[in-house]
Amino acid sequence: MDQNTKKQAVALAALDYIEADTIIGVGTGSTVNFFIDALADIKHKLAGAVSSSVASTARLKALGIDVFELNEVDSLSIYVDGADEVTPHKHMIKGGGAALTQEKIVAAVAKKFVCIVDDTKQVDVLGDFPLPVEVIPMARSYVARELVKLGGDPVWRQGVITDNGNVILDVHNLKILNPREMESTINNIAGVVTNGIFAHRGADVVLVATEQGVETH
Ligand code: A5P
Repeated sequence: MDQNTKKQAVALAALDYIEADTIIGVGTGSTVNFFIDALADIKHKLAGAVSSSVASTARLKALGIDVFELNEVDSLSIYVDGADEVTPHKHMIKGGGAALTQEKIVAAVAKKFVCIVDDTKQVDVLGDFPLPVEVIPMARSYVARELVKLGGDPVWRQGVITDNGNVILDVHNLKILNPREMESTINNIAGVVTNGIFAHRGADVVLVATEQGVETH
């Protein structure tokens, strides 16, 4: 089974978590794109969506799904998103698509976070995937020096500007043994907008596409 078939299978499995007539949070990435496409068939059941990126907003709107600003809604029943890495504790690294800050905000509002991944994303310890950190542009060099002090090797993702007008540093060679602590430590560096560790707000449900089918964790 190829990776896209797995992504589609896990995206379809997430439809079961949608409660009728609620507004849902929608993440970003290639796995979520399959989820957005699947929403087209059940859009009559949805009150609408809040999106985590310009790209997902465009895809939702193209399918005729109402997209609300987060400030317009009181609550979100669920948030569905992919991840770059996920542990058995349901901690994640996200931000491979540079949408981590809005993803973290929308996830914070949602009652339930449903993470959709294929089995290549499962890890015991976070950090093989370079950790994305969104940084205010003028702080880039300073933040990079601070990240080196934490043991990482930050690399500027050149040519990428986030939806919020900031830059991304991808931090290589971090072994993230205490994700909650590392998430807070990096977020405390002046100039960091947010980092891609999702541990304080991890997933509630992780759906994993395997050769044998979709597992629920
Ligand atoms: C976007 O910034 C990311 O957090 C994505 O959710 C993550 O990179 C997973 O993307 P794929 O589904 O494309 O692997």
